[in-house]
Amino acid sequence: MLPPARAVSGNMFRKDAAYIIVGGLTGLGWACVQFLVAYGAGHAVCFSRRKPSQENLKNINDLESSSSCNVVSEQVDVTRYDSVENGFKSVNNRFPCAEIKGVIFGAAILSDAIIESMDNVKFATALSPKVRGAWNLHLITRDLNLDYVVIHSLFPAYMVIKENRIMGLGIRSKMV
Ligand SMILES: NC(=O)c1ccc[n+]([C@@H]2O[C@H](COP(=O)([O-])OP(=O)(O)OC[C@H]3O[C@@H](n4cnc5c(N)ncnc54)[C@H](OP(=O)(O)O)[C@@H]3O)[C@@H](O)[C@H]2O)c1
Repeated sequence: MLPPARAVSGNMFRKDAAYIIVGGLTGLGWACVQFLVAYGAGHAVCFSRRKPSQENLKNINDLESSSSCNVVSEQVDVTRYDSVENGFKSVNNRFPCAEIKGVIFGAAILSDAIIESMDNVKFATALSPKVRGAWNLHLITRDLNLDYVVIHSLFPAYMVIKENRIMGLGIRSKMV
């Protein structure tokens, strides 16, 4: 896990704005939530399919009590347009005075295999949250005046690396 960058000073994010972090309850997404809070965001909303665990809730409470940021979680499946739409409506209902100003997109499912041995199900499992998810987010946000859109991936996801686990697409490929 890469630690959040500390190359900025002052606030990058707005107190009167909301930021959506897809995959925000785990891994890099949670690191981004902490980064948003540290740099001035007023409202951080995690989108993921799961309900927050007790540990997630404790982490959220700890973060809220050490800052003036509201941190909440919404159950959203980004592969489904209706679910994303409901998630955005819910953010607007929860924080009616906060404009949505950023989306950090880190949805991923690890379904890795050497590419020749991947079947359609494995391939779709890995690609669906990224491709459908990114497209649904694009459709929902295209008329919003966002300051930030960040999409996580991994550079090796676009390379062919022998026997290397490629998390960005959830695909492991073999040098040919
Ligand atoms: N970790 C790193 O250091 C690192 C470095 C560079 C790039 N990245 C990239 O960052 C991305 C995230 O990595 P990670 O390590 O944070 O993985 P992770 O902990 O497995 O996080 C993936 C998140 O995506 C969510 N998710 C999956 N499908 C979803 C869906 N249909 N709708 C909504 N949320 C969904 C998961 O929550 P639910 O299962 O509850 O839906 C989970 O919170 C990956 O693309 C990875 O390649 C990570």
